[in-house]
Amino acid sequence: MKLSPSLLSADFGRLAEEIRAVEPVSAYIHFDVMDGHFVPNLTFGPPVVNALRRYTSLPFDIHLMIEHPARYAPRFKVGPEDVITFHVEAGDPSEEAIRVIRGLGCRVGISLRPRTPLSAIEPYLDRVSWVLVMSVEPGFGGQKFMPEALERIRELREMIGGREITIAVDGGIKPGNVRAVVEAGAEVIVAGSAIFGVDDPRAAAEELIRAAHAR
Ligand code: DX5
Ligand code: ZN
Repeated sequence: MKLSPSLLSADFGRLAEEIRAVEPVSAYIHFDVMDGHFVPNLTFGPPVVNALRRYTSLPFDIHLMIEHPARYAPRFKVGPEDVITFHVEAGDPSEEAIRVIRGLGCRVGISLRPRTPLSAIEPYLDRVSWVLVMSVEPGFGGQKFMPEALERIRELREMIGGREITIAVDGGIKPGNVRAVVEAGAEVIVAGSAIFGVDDPRAAAEELIRAAHAR
């Protein structure tokens, strides 16, 4: 299991320090980019994400919860280890989002809201290398994990078959449910409030990793 801490629950006035706190135990840093249209919340965009490159060498896992991923993706500075994930429900056609993101030289991720059927992303599985399964309605941190996500992860695993696609899961993941999420087939765990909502993010991240493997 690889951890991708979500900065959504971090102190936005100290983002570089928050990243450094979890860096030694993390595989990625998860950025929740929201536009106030696709989701009823606003966070940060390319200037903030790009500025944080100076403070870490971890790959960036950029989750675009925006209406026009194809329009804005090129504004992120990315390399081959980074992932830009767009939503299949966004306004831009998925073919175009995939073409634009791939053209940037990074990995392409696709995500879907909890009530969108898996069949909506099936046509794109040959062209993406990452699927982000939402286990809460996108837009806000600190929501409750939707247990239906577990069955969905298992179904997605089947659907992916032999393709080389990473399954990431995002929303409501805590020490109490992380093992079930990993056992269902998730390789990357995104967690916000479980890590940055507490006094010691590093210790919280370590606890989550321990819980994922605990019997
Ligand atoms: C929700 C975001 C998540 C969020 C998860 O729209 O995509 O990445 O930060 O936060 P928790 O872990 O608190 O549910
Ligand atoms: Zn996210």
